[in-house]
Amino acid sequence: MINTLTDKRVSEILDILHEKATADSIQRRIAKNTPGFERSWDTAYMAVNPEEGYLLNFLATVSEAKNIVEFGCSFGISTIYLAAAAKNNGGAVVSTDIEPTKVAGARKNLEDVGLAEYVTILQGDATQTLASLKGPVDFLFLDGAKELYLPVFNLLRPKLIKGSVIFADNADKPDTQPFVEHILGLKDEFTTAHIFEKRAFIAYLK
Ligand SMILES: C[S@@+](CC[C@H](N)C(=O)[O-])C[C@H]1O[C@@H](n2cnc3c(N)ncnc32)[C@H](O)[C@@H]1O
Repeated sequence: MINTLTDKRVSEILDILHEKATADSIQRRIAKNTPGFERSWDTAYMAVNPEEGYLLNFLATVSEAKNIVEFGCSFGISTIYLAAAAKNNGGAVVSTDIEPTKVAGARKNLEDVGLAEYVTILQGDATQTLASLKGPVDFLFLDGAKELYLPVFNLLRPKLIKGSVIFADNADKPDTQPFVEHILGLKDEFTTAHIFEKRAFIAYLK
């Protein structure tokens, strides 16, 4: 089986992007304590770390996902891991983000790693951009606004097929609990697992 992540161009650019994301997060933590600080998310990476990226790629690859959907691409770091799996599987990714600057950045980063042809990014509010998405969906990564995990999941539920994987980041946050509790309540439909100190939540549609 090919592993696109080991491609030199992909791995080198991912290393650079992870470094930028880490620097951005450190800078924001410092700025938070300075007088007059105003929180702005329009340029914040808030990206998955490499371990989570590899897990995303691994799950999408072994589940042979071909119709991958991502809620919240930011600058496209997680999207690269998903696109690499889509390429391995002969599939594609549809992602969405509300911030135009980030969508432009993600598109450029995907071009740079040579995976743009496997990804369509819809700019706008996910509850609208994903509403007219054609199914089926067999891999769903939730990493946008936490309070929208459940509405976005409900929107896509009719399109999720047997064997689908649902991966939610920040599953330990208060705003994601309605989503987590909803899935935990669907025991007959989903096998679930909490990992990384409950941060990542994985559900498998039986
Ligand atoms: C945690 S970041 C995503 C990080 C990205 N998955 C990665 O690992 O590189 C969350 C993203 O969700 C986007 N977002 C927030 N609310 C949204 C909405 N209603 N619709 C689409 N995107 C949204 C934000 O602009 C932000 O870029």
